[in-house]
Amino acid sequence: MNFIPKEIENYALKRSKKPSALLDELWAYTHAHTDAPQMLTGPLEGNFLHMLVSISGAKRVLEIGTFTGYSALWMAQALPADGKLITCDVSENNVSIAKQFFEKSEHGSKITIQMGPGLKILQKMIESGEDPFDVIFVDADKENYPRYFQKSLELIKNGGLMVFDNTLWSGRVLDEEQDAETKGIDRLNIMIENEKRVQNVLLTIRDGMQLVRKV
Ligand SMILES: C[S@@+](CC[C@H](N)C(=O)[O-])C[C@H]1O[C@@H](n2cnc3c(N)ncnc32)[C@H](O)[C@@H]1O
Repeated sequence: MNFIPKEIENYALKRSKKPSALLDELWAYTHAHTDAPQMLTGPLEGNFLHMLVSISGAKRVLEIGTFTGYSALWMAQALPADGKLITCDVSENNVSIAKQFFEKSEHGSKITIQMGPGLKILQKMIESGEDPFDVIFVDADKENYPRYFQKSLELIKNGGLMVFDNTLWSGRVLDEEQDAETKGIDRLNIMIENEKRVQNVLLTIRDGMQLVRKV
C-alpha cells in the first residue's frame, strides 16, 4: 500500500528528476512480462537510492533482491566508472530480465549478479573476508530481515548506509496478530531502534524505508 495520495505522489514524481529512457523501458517491460510488477521499487525510491549512492561517494554496493534489475540499475548509474554493485536473487526468471537490461546499459559492467539465497551469500562473504560495502540495500524475503541486518552490520563499513525496503508493510507492522513477514519487519525495526552501533530514520516514502547508518 502507498500511504501518500496518488495526486501527491504524481506531483512528487513530476517535480523529481526523471528516470533514464532505459529505466522507463525496464519499468514497462516488467509490467508487461511479470506477474508481480508491484515489487518494483519505482522511480521515487530508485531516485532516492541513486541520491544516497551519489552523496555517500559509494564505490561498493550490495543489493539483496534483484527482481528485474530496476533498483540495481538506478544505483549503478550513480556509481563511478570503477564502482561495483553486487546483486543477488533466487529467481532465474526475474534475473534473466535483469541481465538483458544490464547488457543494454552503459553502467551494466559495474553490476555482478549472484544467484542464491541472500543469507547464504552474505554468510559466505563474511567467511571469505569480502571487502566492506558502502551501501547495502535489502529488498527480499521479509521474514529474514533481522538476520540480514545482523549480517549487513558485519559487511558494511563504518559510516556506511543500509537501506531496508517495505518497513511499514502497508501498515501491518501495527497489527497485534502478525504473520512471519510482518514479524520479520517489525523485529527488524525494533532491533535497529535498540542497536547502539547505528543511527536510523524510518522514512515514510511509499511502503516505508529504513535508512540506517553504522556509526
Ligand atoms: C521486491 S523484489 C525486489 C525488487 C527490486 N529491488 C527492484 O526494485 O526492482 C524481491 C526479490 O527478492 C527475491 N528473493 C526472494 N527471496 C530471496 C532470497 N532468500 N534471497 C535473495 N533474493 C530473494 C525475489 O525473487 C524477488 O525478485
